[in-house]
Formats: sequence, structure tokens, C-alpha cells
Amino acid sequence: MRWETFDSYESLSAHAAELLLDAIRENPRIVLGLPTGRTPLGMYARVVSECAREYRCFRDVVTFNLDEYIGIAREHPGSYATYMREHLFAHVDLDPRNTHVPDGVTPDPAGYEQQIRDAGGLGFTFLGLGRNGHIGFNEPGTPFDSRTRIVELTESTRRANAPHFPDGDVPTHAITMGIATILESKRIVLLASSEGKREAIERLRSHDAGPAFPASALWLHSDVLVLCAANAASSSS
Ligand code: GLP
Repeated sequence: MRWETFDSYESLSAHAAELLLDAIRENPRIVLGLPTGRTPLGMYARVVSECAREYRCFRDVVTFNLDEYIGIAREHPGSYATYMREHLFAHVDLDPRNTHVPDGVTPDPAGYEQQIRDAGGLGFTFLGLGRNGHIGFNEPGTPFDSRTRIVELTESTRRANAPHFPDGDVPTHAITMGIATILESKRIVLLASSEGKREAIERLRSHDAGPAFPASALWLHSDVLVLCAANAASSSS
């Protein structure tokens, strides 16, 4: 696992965007695994502004999102499908047929795995980090051999995501790629920023591997880069 620490969220986001765009330049048909949440917003904003200058950068790219809430339609303002439309899909030349966000209304976990396989497998996956160490919606206790499936969200994750559901109706379940699904990606980048992630980053760095801390599964992978903003880094880093 390699680590890079950045002075600011802006410089972290700029670097993440550069990695993503470089990967596309190297392989215009790359299969990307994509995250949601607050952390990748800066990365997506930079990717979008770069792509406005570059000719057809996403034309042949294929994307698979990590997760989606169960029981809400794609059009719901809190859905990850809406998030992806607003922050990436509507602004770049991705072919809608090449974008995949798990369906939260008629979830088909096995079908999603099959679609990933049919696309040739994940080439480059970006991840955020939950305060409790979750990746995707793989909450503590998730076995490392888990595949795409429906999961129950913990209270703390529901609280963290409550602002997206102002009516108070925060979903209780989600569909998420499993840890084994994520680990099959050829390359992985994990993004961490904000004070709230400091403890999780500290724990990841300590190499304390086990299902109690899902992100620690990344130690099993040979090509993981952690991009960490200084506010999320421990003082010793
Ligand atoms: C959410 C998502 C994760 C995301 C994480 C961190 O629950 N399912 O994929 O990485 O929480 O989100 P944020 O970046 O907003 O802290």
C-alpha cells in the first residue's frame, strides 16, 4: 500500500483527477469503479473541467458505481444515480449504455457482478472511506470474500448520510459491490479527507487487518494508493 499526503483537499482532488484522466489516456476503454460521497466531489469537478478542454475523453470508458440505496428510484434526489448524473455523467461524453449504477428498486446483485465480468473486470477503482472503515457500503464485519449483495446500513452510516434525505426517510438498506469484487480491480485508489477520517486513516495505517475494519482488506491488494489530505493524516505521517 502506497501513501501520499496532500496539504489541502484541493491538491488531493487535483491529483486524483489527474490519475483518473491519465488512466483513460493510457487505456481509452478502461473500466472504472466509481465512488460517491463528499470526498470525491473535488475530483469529479476537476475531471469535468479538464474534459471540457479535451476531445472526447470518456467516449469508450465504462463505469460501475460501488453502491446504491435500496428502495429509492434513480430519479430520487438522494440516490447515487442522481449524484453521478449531477457530478459526472451529464458533463462528459460517457455513453449512457456504458455507465452502471446498481438498481436500488429492482436490485440484481448477481446480475451486477455478471455485468462487471462481461466488461472485462474493473480496471481502476476509486474509493472513499467511511468513518467506521467501510468501503462501498461494506460495513464492519463484512467478510473479505463478499460479493455484490444487499446489506443493512449501520445507524452511524445512516446518520452520516441523513443530509441527503431531508424528509428523514433515510434508507435502511443498500446494494454494494462486495470486498472481493473491489479487490479484483487491477488498481485501487482510496481518497480520505476531513478531520472525521483521521481515526480511520490511523487504523488503516496500523495494518490492523480484519473484517472489523473493512478498508484493511486493501492490504491484501498489490496496487493500492491512499491519497490523504493533511487534515485526515495522523501527526506522525
Ligand atoms: C458513503 C458511501 C461510501 C463513501 C463513504 C464516505 O456511505 N457509500 O462509498 O465512500 O460513505 O463518504 P464521504 O466521502 O461523504 O465521507
